Amino acid sequence: MIDHNKIVEALRRIPDPSSQSDLIEGKRVTDLKVTEGEVFFTLNTSGLDDQQKGKLNFRCQEEIARDFPEASVHIHMKTSGGPGSASNSALPQVKNIIAVASGKGGVGKSTVAVNLALALAKSGYKTGLIDADLYGPSIPTMLNLEGKRPKIYEHYGKPVIQPLEQYGLSVMSIGFLVEPEQAVVLRGPRLSGVLKQFIGDVRWPELDFMVIDLPPGTGDIQLTLVQSLPLTGAVVVTTPQSVSLADAVKAGNMFRIENIDVPILGVVENMSWFTPEELPDNKYHIFGKGGGKKLTQFFETVLLGQIPLVQSIRESGDKGVPAVEKEGHIADIYKEIAVKTVRQTAIRNELLGPTKIVDVK
Ligand SMILES: Nc1ncnc2c1ncn2[C@@H]1O[C@H](COP(=O)(O)OP(=O)(O)OP(=O)(O)O)[C@@H](O)[C@H]1O
Ligand SMILES: [Mg+2]
Repeated sequence: MIDHNKIVEALRRIPDPSSQSDLIEGKRVTDLKVTEGEVFFTLNTSGLDDQQKGKLNFRCQEEIARDFPEASVHIHMKTSGGPGSASNSALPQVKNIIAVASGKGGVGKSTVAVNLALALAKSGYKTGLIDADLYGPSIPTMLNLEGKRPKIYEHYGKPVIQPLEQYGLSVMSIGFLVEPEQAVVLRGPRLSGVLKQFIGDVRWPELDFMVIDLPPGTGDIQLTLVQSLPLTGAVVVTTPQSVSLADAVKAGNMFRIENIDVPILGVVENMSWFTPEELPDNKYHIFGKGGGKKLTQFFETVLLGQIPLVQSIRESGDKGVPAVEKEGHIADIYKEIAVKTVRQTAIRNELLGPTKIVDVK
C-alpha cells in the first residue's frame, strides 16, 4: 500500500527550481491522489523552461521510485497560476479537508468542529483544525488556548507560522494573530487576502484530516475558502427547527455553485432535544423535530448524528476542555459522528476525483 504522506515526503526532497524551497513548500504539487498501486498529481510548471520541466518530471519519478519502486506514477504537467493564484494555496500535505458550515449563527458549528476534530484525532487520524471565523473566533477559548501566540519564523526568507498543538490537534485560529476588534475593520477583498495568507503561510504537518470551522452564513470568507482550498467535503450543522433549515440549505448550496462541486458529506443536527443531566432518558424537543433529516433528503446525504442540548456541552466549551475529552454518553455521540464522517469521506474519495479549485469571479 502506498502511503500518501510518504509521497509528500519524497516530493519534499526535490528542490523547487524557482524558489529555493522544495516542491511541496513551493506549492507546485496539487491534486495528489494515491491509490493501491498508483500515484497521481498535477505539477505546476509555471516559469520553467522545457529542460527544467523534463528534469523535474524525472526527479519526481526517481524520488517516488526510491520509496515505492512498484508504484506507477502519473504526473499531469500544467502551466498556470503564478504567485497568489488559487492553486498555489492548495495544501498537498493534507489528505482530506472538511469544512463545517451552517447558514445561521449560534447553531453549534464551532462546538461540532472542535469535537469532531478531537474525535478524529482520538481514532488515530492526524488532524488539524482551522478556525476561520475572523469576526468571532471561538476556538482559542474552546481549546483553552486563549492568549497563546503561535511561533512565527523565517523560512527561505518568508514568514512561516507554526500551528499550536492542543489535545493532539494542530490548531490555527485567526484569533491567535488578530484581535477581534482589528478584524472587524477588514472587509471584502482585504478580508479574503488575510484569509488566503493565513492559510498559505501556516506550516501544516502531514495530516489525514483538516477540519475548518467556518463563520456563519455565506459571505466573503466562505467563498474565499471554497475557492482557494480543495475541500474534500462539507459537514452542515443545523438545529431541528425549520427556520434554521432554510439557512442551512443556503449554506449547503454555497458548496454547489457553478464550477464548484464540494460534496456534502453529511448533516449534524445539534440541540436535537433537551436532556436534563439528572434525567438522561428524558427528551424534550424544545426546538421541534426533523430538521436534520429533512436537510439530508434535500442534499441526498446522510445524518451523521444528533446531539442533545445539555448543559455540560456548553460548560465544556467555556472551560476549554471539549466534551469528547470526557468519556461518556456525549463523547460517544461525537465519536460516532467521526466514524460516519470517515466513512463518508472514504466513499466520496472512491467515487469522485479531487475537488478542483476554480476562481469564480
Ligand atoms: N449541544 C449543545 N448543548 C448545549 N450547548 C451547546 C450545544 N452546542 C453548542 N452549545 C453552546 O451554544 C453556544 C453556541 O455554540 P457555537 O459557538 O459552537 O456555535 P456556532 O454555530 O459556532 O456560533 P457562531 O455562528 O457564532 O460561530 C456555545 O455557548 C456552545 O457552548
Ligand atoms: Mg463558531
